[in-house]
Amino acid sequence: MTKRILIDTDPGIDDSLAILLALASPEVKLEGLTVVHGNCSAEQGTVNALSILELAKAEHIPVLTGCDLPLVQPSLLAPETHGGQGLGYASLPSPRNQARAGHAVDFLIEQIMSNPGEITLVAIGPLTNVAMALRLEPRIVQNVKEVVIMGGAIRHEGNTTPMAEFNTFVDPHAAHMVYHSGMPITLVPLDVTYQVVLNHADVDRLKGLPSGIPQFIEDATRFYMEFHDEYQQIDGCVINDPLALALTFAPELCNYEEQYVDVDINGGVSMGNTFADFYKALNQPANMKVALGIRPRQFLDLFLERMEQLSKRVGS
Ligand code: BDR
Ligand code: CA
Repeated sequence: MTKRILIDTDPGIDDSLAILLALASPEVKLEGLTVVHGNCSAEQGTVNALSILELAKAEHIPVLTGCDLPLVQPSLLAPETHGGQGLGYASLPSPRNQARAGHAVDFLIEQIMSNPGEITLVAIGPLTNVAMALRLEPRIVQNVKEVVIMGGAIRHEGNTTPMAEFNTFVDPHAAHMVYHSGMPITLVPLDVTYQVVLNHADVDRLKGLPSGIPQFIEDATRFYMEFHDEYQQIDGCVINDPLALALTFAPELCNYEEQYVDVDINGGVSMGNTFADFYKALNQPANMKVALGIRPRQFLDLFLERMEQLSKRVGS
């Protein structure tokens, strides 16, 4: 049975790859994109979301703009990682369509509440929209099917501070609310995503296929690869967000542990740090399933196959 999904996103180079993967995957039906601040402003992210959908001839999918600021923290965008416009060196035509009227948070609530037990929410940006939805309509906890979150770094070092991952660091208070909400959560932290490195040969594999998708992937990831080379000495680029999307229909790509996970919101050097209580020192029940092991090549092959199929479908 196809899974109905909503993606809450800050597009974003790897976010755009997650959106394309959703469109390429018959196992899921993409019901909408809700945009949040993060890699770029919510306004720019909305333009990017619309352009990516048009690139893939999927302009019928609704896009809604959401929160442009974290709950408590000051804004933090990521132009050095994703480029000034959020999509690296890619420059897609301005979208013909506009975002749907209304707020992304209201849309999230309306979709989840009118389809009880049906909607899988894939959250691949800072969790501000999701936290706001929880406050406005707490019953989404019982009505959402599952929430798959790309965020956190459990045993892994941070990618934004030594101890914190980007999505969590940008809005740690929102992450705190979501982690403790009681929603059925699967967390996809850097522990697994940092094993998924897309390299030049992978991108070359898509060359020559029809549609603008291979060129978009090449232009966007070239910037991302330069960032990874300069800042992290990684040959290639880590594609975090599409892994979270893939786990909605291919959970066997990862191994999971049920854990009690929390996030530091006390400020200081460990602000936004995520940790699991592996030895049960805190004596708390598990609040999520955490992906801690992965078969990276299997995921990358799936991702590339799906991009080939989507390019052929869109180009024909
Ligand atoms: C996360 O932060 C963003 O830069 C990426 O899009 C991803 O969602 C990885 O830490
Ligand atoms: Ca993201």
